[in-house]
Amino acid sequence: MPKKIKKLAVLTSGGDSPGMNAAIRSVVRTCAYHDVECVGVYRGYEGLIEGDFKSMGARSVRGIINKGGTILKSARSQTFRTPEGRKIAYQNLVDNNIEGLVVIGGDGSFTGALVFNQEFGFPVMGIPGTIDNDIFGTSHTLGFDTALNTVVDAIDKIRDTASSHNRLFFIEVMGRDVGHIALNTGIAGGAEEILIPEEDLGLDRLVESLNRSRKSGKTSSIVIVAEGDKIGKNIFELKEYVDDNMEGYDVRVSVLGHMQRGGAPSCFDRVLASRMGVKAVETLLEGKTNYMVGLIANKMELTPLDNAIKGKTKINLELLRVSDIMSI
Ligand code: F6P
Repeated sequence: MPKKIKKLAVLTSGGDSPGMNAAIRSVVRTCAYHDVECVGVYRGYEGLIEGDFKSMGARSVRGIINKGGTILKSARSQTFRTPEGRKIAYQNLVDNNIEGLVVIGGDGSFTGALVFNQEFGFPVMGIPGTIDNDIFGTSHTLGFDTALNTVVDAIDKIRDTASSHNRLFFIEVMGRDVGHIALNTGIAGGAEEILIPEEDLGLDRLVESLNRSRKSGKTSSIVIVAEGDKIGKNIFELKEYVDDNMEGYDVRVSVLGHMQRGGAPSCFDRVLASRMGVKAVETLLEGKTNYMVGLIANKMELTPLDNAIKGKTKINLELLRVSDIMSI
């Protein structure tokens, strides 16, 4: 039997995502359910170093399941990257009798958690929170589904004005290294083309495809561009390229930006966050450490943090084909 844990801490780190609050609520309430004290750490690892802690009971997380952002705030801590910073953080946890840490964030946050465990043997557990869905070991990260719905809503609105003016719109969506948001919202928003980092379409094929669309009778077009795509031009240069090389296109650009990270979490993200929080706390209470909880085939599964950090998510090739067929 593992030694009974009496006190846990939870923090959010890295880029925020809708569903983080629902996950905090779940961690806090699962602790209360098992009679374990819970401490919220403000501003991620930065707060761990500064000892910015707050005791959280079941009622302290009322009314947050539907809120975007994170009530614990988030940060990307440079000090935690140093051994001195981590030592202070460890001492703060020990001084406060905290015996385990739940980290809600992306792979950078998990790397910090793993190093921390390796140095001090401190139990850590990860909950994947990022809109990019770029974490190995879960089909969905927290916030991905909400971001998809936000983006599709924006595309629908842009399409209204694009078709009224017979315009071509390049719409940039988030995804620094991966095209999950672009691919899914491109299909759902009826885009003519989708540019993602995993596949270099090439300028020639883009132009060819736009010409084909027009010949087939389309009067307006939407091209979704993931921010990390590899076509070699940013979205404004793409507009210039089409302006200079294609006749008769009236081109506009829309960069959706950080609005994709905000807003009330979807039902899917609220349920996912609730499940992940329960699993993360109960896994720590079982005496396990260095795992990330994730959704695989609709079950809560554990993936070693190391694999979650090093593993790569793959784009669904079937979606690429579906998108090609739909944009005929
Ligand atoms: O949360 C991930 C992400 O949305 C990326 O797609 C994007 O490049 C990045 O965050 C931007 O984050 P920030 O502006 O917080 O540095």
